[in-house]
Amino acid sequence: MKAKKNLSKEKASIIEQSTYQNGYGILTKRATSIGFKVNTLKTTQCNSITKLSNDFIVNLGMQRNDNESQHSILSYLMPNGSMMLSQTNQEDNDDFEKHTLPTSISLKMSLENTLKQRRSKRHFTGDKAPLNYLATILRAAYGITGSTEANHTRSEPINLNLRTTPSAGGIYPIDLYIAALNIDGIKQSIYQYNPTEDKLIKLYTEAHVEKLLNAFATNEEQINLRRSAFICLMIGSPEKSMRKYGNLGLSFTLHEVGSISQNIHLATTALGLGSVDCASYYRDEAHKVLNIDGLYMNLLHTIIIGVS
Ligand SMILES: Cc1cc2nc3c(=O)[nH]c(=O)nc-3n(C[C@H](O)[C@H](O)[C@H](O)COP(=O)(O)O)c2cc1C
Repeated sequence: MKAKKNLSKEKASIIEQSTYQNGYGILTKRATSIGFKVNTLKTTQCNSITKLSNDFIVNLGMQRNDNESQHSILSYLMPNGSMMLSQTNQEDNDDFEKHTLPTSISLKMSLENTLKQRRSKRHFTGDKAPLNYLATILRAAYGITGSTEANHTRSEPINLNLRTTPSAGGIYPIDLYIAALNIDGIKQSIYQYNPTEDKLIKLYTEAHVEKLLNAFATNEEQINLRRSAFICLMIGSPEKSMRKYGNLGLSFTLHEVGSISQNIHLATTALGLGSVDCASYYRDEAHKVLNIDGLYMNLLHTIIIGVS
């Protein structure tokens, strides 16, 4: 492709440098001779990290005549499979403190305007957000909005919940937690949103919120974490989907994090609050605070929300 005419000298030089960096830099012998490797260099070499991502990419998708996968998928269409799905978020949590959520606020902004106005906001005032704003966002993200019946010939129909966000096979492999910092009516703590009960389940204390904030790799100048209202934590259990779909289940789980995220951003925008995705956290430290193992449960993404 030809470069555009009339570029300033400075722009042309930057383009030249980046072209070199992208295309030829990695071929330079000396670049591979040092231990310090930037990501472009890493991805051209076969080390364990790139091998993982390469294996992941080439194993995505279905293959014809894969009877083992077909059998795994079909098992979910049997009564046992439907029954298992109907139990999602029905775990025994009666020992935990629970908070009933207030009625949602009606989102009046048109979808057209909401889509246009969504923008990442990184600076927050520290003002408290009302609990019904939080409730609205949680329900928009992952709330139950309907149900369907799975009908099997030799058993009663089984009720399956459906939500705002689509999920491959209706598995819903994400758990939505929030770290509440400045919300009217609830204490600083870490809660799980249970869509079946439509309640917040208090899992951890204020001390855990502080530890979680310390696990972020951003500073207050970049994102006002401490002045935000709450942080959405999307915890994925890819195994739930991989049990049915194999490797594809992992990509479905990541895909669904994206869908939940967009619902959160749109609801936040329509409410006049600000939000920003934040992938900048130290995975192992966050997992330790949340007491999750990083394999069966993994903090896949976070969104910071506040009065902006
Ligand atoms: C997966 C993902 C991770 C992100 N992580 C961060 C982050 O760690 N810090 C940050 O300031 N912005 C983060 N962002 C926000 C992007 O920088 C932002 O969406 C982009 O600059 C486009 O701007 P806009 O959202 O205002 O349209 C992330 C966005 C996505 C989708």
